[in-house]
Amino acid sequence: MNNKRTRIYEGKAKILYEGPEPGTVVVHFKDDATAFNAEKKAVIDGKGVLNQRISEFLFTKINDMGLPTHFLRSLNMREQLVREVEIIPLEVVVRNIAAGSLSKRLGIEEGKQLPRSIIELYYKNDSLGDPMVTEEHVTAFGWATPQEMDDIVHMSIRINDFLSGLFLGIGIKLVDFKLEFGRFYENDMMRIVLADEISPDNCRLWDIKTNDKLDKDRFRRDMGGLVEAYQEVARRLGIIQANETTERFKPKLVKSD
Ligand code: TMP
Repeated sequence: MNNKRTRIYEGKAKILYEGPEPGTVVVHFKDDATAFNAEKKAVIDGKGVLNQRISEFLFTKINDMGLPTHFLRSLNMREQLVREVEIIPLEVVVRNIAAGSLSKRLGIEEGKQLPRSIIELYYKNDSLGDPMVTEEHVTAFGWATPQEMDDIVHMSIRINDFLSGLFLGIGIKLVDFKLEFGRFYENDMMRIVLADEISPDNCRLWDIKTNDKLDKDRFRRDMGGLVEAYQEVARRLGIIQANETTERFKPKLVKSD
C-alpha cells in the first residue's frame, strides 16, 4: 500500500484516499466485517477483494444500462477509482422478500414474498444507529430535495428490476439490498449518481433452490463460510473461475472480538 496517499476518510469497510486527478477518489476495500453498527467485528481475509470485484462488475453493468454511477475503473484487486461526489446521508433499502429488520419489526416471516417491492429510507448517522425516516424528514431537513428523491426512487426501482433479473439468471434470489447516492457536479450541472458499493455485504442473496445465504448474514448470524459464499456469488457471475482457489481467497478468520 502507498502510505503517501492522503486519506480522506476511513469507514467500517472502506478507506477513501485522494485520487490521482482532481475530482477523483480511490476506494480501498478492507477485509473488516462489522454488523449491528460495529458492535460485532472481525477481519475476514479475502472479503475486500471479493467485494471490490463484485461491485466493479455490478456498477459496470448499471453504467451500461445508462444509469450514472460514481464508478470509473478498478485500479487493482482491492481498489477502485471513483468520482468525488457529495454523499446524500441516506441508506436506501429495497426489499423484495421479507427478511432482517422488516421481519423483526412487522412480524412477517422471513422468506415471504412481499406483495410489491418496498423502499425504505434510513438516515445515515452512526451515532444515531441509522434511524428509519420518511421522505417528509428527508425534504424537511434538507438532506435531499423532492426532485432528488424522485431521481433516487426511480433509479432504485430500475436497479432492483435489473439486479433481480441478473441474479435470477444465476440461481440467486435478490431478497433485499442497500444503496447510497451522491451529487456529482459537472460544469454547471448537478446529477444524482449511484455511489458506495453493491456487494454481498449490503445485499441479501439466497440460493434459489436451497435458500442458502450467500451474503453477510453468514457473519451477522455466526454461520461461518462467508468467503466461500462470496466466492460462490463471484463464480456464478463469471468474475472468478470455477477452479480459482488462490491463496488470497482462502478463508481465514484473522481476528474476532
Ligand atoms: P435490514 O434487514 O437489517 O434492515 O437490512 C436490509 C438490507 O440492507 C440488507 O440487505 C443489508 C443491508 N444493510 C446495509 O447494507 N447496511 C446496514 O447498515 C444495514 C442495517 C443493512
